[in-house]
Amino acid sequence: MTRSKKISNPAEFVGRPVWAEVSLPALAGNLQAIRDYVNPPSEKRASPRKVLAIVKGNAYGHGGAAVAKALEKAGSDWFGVASAGEGMEIRKAGVRAPILVLGGFWPGEEKNLLRHNLTPAIHRCEQLLAYEAAAAKLRKKNVPVQLKVDTGMNRLGILPKDADCFARQLAKCKHVALTGTFTHLASSEVLTDTALGRQTQQQLDRFHATTDRLQALGVDPGITHIANSAAIAARPETWADMVRPGALLYGYHPGFDPMERRLEFEAKLPLRPVMSLRARLISVRCVAAGESVGYDGTWIAQRPSRIAVMCAGYADGVHRSLGNRGVVYIRGHVAPILGIVSMDVVMLDVTDVPDAAIGDVATLYGTDGERVYPANVVARSVGTVTSDLISGVGQRVPRFYIP
Ligand SMILES: Cc1ncc(COP(=O)(O)O)c(C=O)c1O
Repeated sequence: MTRSKKISNPAEFVGRPVWAEVSLPALAGNLQAIRDYVNPPSEKRASPRKVLAIVKGNAYGHGGAAVAKALEKAGSDWFGVASAGEGMEIRKAGVRAPILVLGGFWPGEEKNLLRHNLTPAIHRCEQLLAYEAAAAKLRKKNVPVQLKVDTGMNRLGILPKDADCFARQLAKCKHVALTGTFTHLASSEVLTDTALGRQTQQQLDRFHATTDRLQALGVDPGITHIANSAAIAARPETWADMVRPGALLYGYHPGFDPMERRLEFEAKLPLRPVMSLRARLISVRCVAAGESVGYDGTWIAQRPSRIAVMCAGYADGVHRSLGNRGVVYIRGHVAPILGIVSMDVVMLDVTDVPDAAIGDVATLYGTDGERVYPANVVARSVGTVTSDLISGVGQRVPRFYIP
């Protein structure tokens, strides 16, 4: 279980000195910024477009239950999780808003969905009847489900050509009600005039053809939603009735192709990083030129150096690829990561950090006062995406929710 606490000065907690600070004002501010962005005053809509906050994967590492609670208070309309288990954790924390289980269910999980009022995504026609049977057994009526359509990602969802089959199965259901229809975009961040850049439009066309077909068959598709972070930022034509931000909520625009477009979207939709990952220095020593540091001696001092040990390793979320490549920030100074990242610690070159001492706080990414050290820069430097990096913050790292 992720430990979660609300205290005003997280650096003062007693325990192994590595922790994540989660800024609740930044989280709520990002949600509001997204909501405003997808509801431009120039557009006349009968009701505002909704936001489904993606909180799967322990809310991208930020702590699923605490983040969902905070986002519900900040007005999130819906939540998206990967599994019934994740949904139950959020319900147990007291969240009452509707929760969509994006991954649907595995046989046996139906009763958990029903008991905790979770809405499963149906991504194969036959799941509908299995769920109907479970709902009938528990004598539940009007049990919500949403339909996931595979419009070209070839991952999960019924194919557009299966709309007729779905409608036939739905007609047999007396306990289940379709409340929404959605699809997931495979390459919404690609904005080039290429086949990949045109894939989103193709997916949109297939999605609309599917919802049109359902309507022609007498099935109301319910609330429709398509857009992930990249599509929210860059493609208003995908916004439909509701949007599903993940990365944006946590403060990061995805990488776009072409890369320069990110600056444009960061200016149009400014966000604040929500999580800061920090650890203290627990040892500082001097080594002579020629001495090696860490496993396999992959770093050798070229000059007499001061080496600090920071109390965070790959089991805490310091990506192992940062060895001999990444940096951390100590009192505004840059300290390079030396040698191979260990499970519990990393070594730093603090030769150029004046007076670096045991107890100093190092920031891996996030904010430090007015300074911002974006996690997407760290992620890019090791060839991954921000969501992967931030989701990797270890379970043993306490999260502190800063009001
Ligand atoms: C179905 C679905 N919708 C939305 C998202 C959010 O994606 P992003 O973090 O790019 O906003 C995800 C994340 O993987 C997803 O699987």
